[in-house]
Amino acid sequence: MEQTTSYPKDKINILFLENISDKAVKYFQQMGYTSVRKLGGALSEAELMKEIKDVHLLGIRSKTQITEKVLAAATKLQAIGCFCIGVNQVDLKAATRNGVAVFNAPYSNTRSVAELVIGLSIMLIRRIPDKNKAAHEGIWMKDAKGSFELRGKTLGIIGYGNIGTQVSVLAEALGMKVIFYDTTTKLPLGNAVAGKTLKEVLGLADIITLHVPETNQTKNMINKTTLKYFKKGSILLNYARGEVVDLDALRKCLVEGQLSGAAIDVYPWEPEKNGDRFQTPLQDLPNVILTPHIGGSTEEAQENIGEDVSVKLYQYLEMGTSFGSHTIPSLSLPPQEGTHRILHIHKNVPGVLSAINTELSKHKINILAQYLKTNEDIGYVVLDVDKKLSNQAQKLLREVKDTIKVRLLY
Ligand code: NAI
Repeated sequence: MEQTTSYPKDKINILFLENISDKAVKYFQQMGYTSVRKLGGALSEAELMKEIKDVHLLGIRSKTQITEKVLAAATKLQAIGCFCIGVNQVDLKAATRNGVAVFNAPYSNTRSVAELVIGLSIMLIRRIPDKNKAAHEGIWMKDAKGSFELRGKTLGIIGYGNIGTQVSVLAEALGMKVIFYDTTTKLPLGNAVAGKTLKEVLGLADIITLHVPETNQTKNMINKTTLKYFKKGSILLNYARGEVVDLDALRKCLVEGQLSGAAIDVYPWEPEKNGDRFQTPLQDLPNVILTPHIGGSTEEAQENIGEDVSVKLYQYLEMGTSFGSHTIPSLSLPPQEGTHRILHIHKNVPGVLSAINTELSKHKINILAQYLKTNEDIGYVVLDVDKKLSNQAQKLLREVKDTIKVRLLY
């Protein structure tokens, strides 16, 4: 296969923020990119607007906010790699309008979260946090009262997506019954059963674990009212998003004994950096495990994320493959053979494709392969053309009305 590139590799500026795994840095260095910069923390909007001017590829994690202003300053930016699960930190509408591809790693830390949820469920149902605390304080608390096995208990999974389904499989392997609630119809794995309503699942489960995204519907999904549906003495785990649970209401239920334990990893407000003060209404409660948003933070996950996002960025940069992008319509492309490839991103309005074809045929530029995909806002056309005519074709395509971005791979 011929090696292609979009631009001299030493002129492609790559900036990685937020201490992204060295695996990503090494990957691009091995691919021949020499201008790869890695910074430890996140940058503010103003700092980023300054830094981003000459950047072609940007790597971030969840703390860096990519606003409309940042994108407007990023005139050379082709793609953003979110080296994490979510993409909420990026203004996706603005990135789409600017023709900037946004990739993430939706599955890389799925297993890390799922394993921890199972581990925490065992800890909580055995009341290990209390016994551990007592032992550290020199108190002997040998007692079976209130300690149970997972086997035979019912796990309620709210959100049966990537993580929810993995938890489902692991829980059944431990002999648990699984019931789940999802707003989309999902194929139940193993012997899991789909509940009809949130209320039904909350009322049947001994342990409830949340694996929903943050949306208007999931905001405060677990609140004063829904907490009343929980089985008396049940346990709640939130390793999804902080806004999903009303923590004051949860505290009340824990204090009153409606719930017997909880494990929380995500909060409506989280500190910016390590060492910052952190406060939540759940501090100092018995049988409550609090973790600092580390559900997906394992060395394996970081490595997987580093590799997954790097490969997507590279394939987009060097082949035009946009599969997995949240902004550019998804195209999986074969490698071009003996041709040059032009990537054309345009507003999704009628007539652009015909304008492209008319311009090229007017100048006798034969299109050897053409791929098109559109979404609501933009269209993405990939054209493989004769090597000798590709520069001319690129110039012509820049002039087509409603063009957002044109790139040439040679
Ligand atoms: P996913 O998108 O694969 O699954 C989410 C599921 O929730 C989907 O099946 C969806 O249909 C369902 N859903 C959406 N709205 C719902 C509603 N109102 N009621 C019931 N179900 C609803 O997402 P994935 O990868 O499983 O992640 C789940 C959550 O975990 C996300 O919020 C993600 O941000 C969070 N997460 C947290 C981590 C941590 O470090 N604590 C690490 C990784 C993910």
